[in-house]
Amino acid sequence: MIVPLMTLAAAAVMTATVAAAQNLDAGKAPERLFADGCATCHRSPRGLAKGRFSLTLTWFLKDHYATSSDTAKALAAYLESVDTPPQAAAKPGAKRTAPHPPKPSQTH
Ligand code: HEC
Repeated sequence: MIVPLMTLAAAAVMTATVAAAQNLDAGKAPERLFADGCATCHRSPRGLAKGRFSLTLTWFLKDHYATSSDTAKALAAYLESVDTPPQAAAKPGAKRTAPHPPKPSQTH
């Protein structure tokens, strides 16, 4: 296979950033899967899980979209993680959605 020089140069520059995204489909992050396969119709992953059980959601995704159950599971977990109600959202992905400010107990 012939690789254009431009690609090589770009790859050399961006190796550190892109290396993690060079895996096969199975290794893709759920965010990536969503962006590639779902964002066309669903603008945001939010509001899709709708509080469903992850098993139900996994079945739905496997049945309707994803080819492998691993992918469906990863997507289901992702949809749920961005869909959790505020009181349960202690995850790093749930930024900027906190409805209340931090507790004032530590202020001077
Ligand atoms: C070709 C357009 C299209 C693509 C691509 C697509 N969807 Fe959908 N999806 C729909 C439509 C249309 C519905 C039905 C919406 C409804 O009934 O409110 C739906 C419904 C859903 C639902 C159920 C939502 C509900 O309200 O019950 C989930 C979850 C979902 N999609 C996830 C995904 C995921 C994850 C992907 C990527 C793997 C994906 N979709 C890709 C069009 C699409």
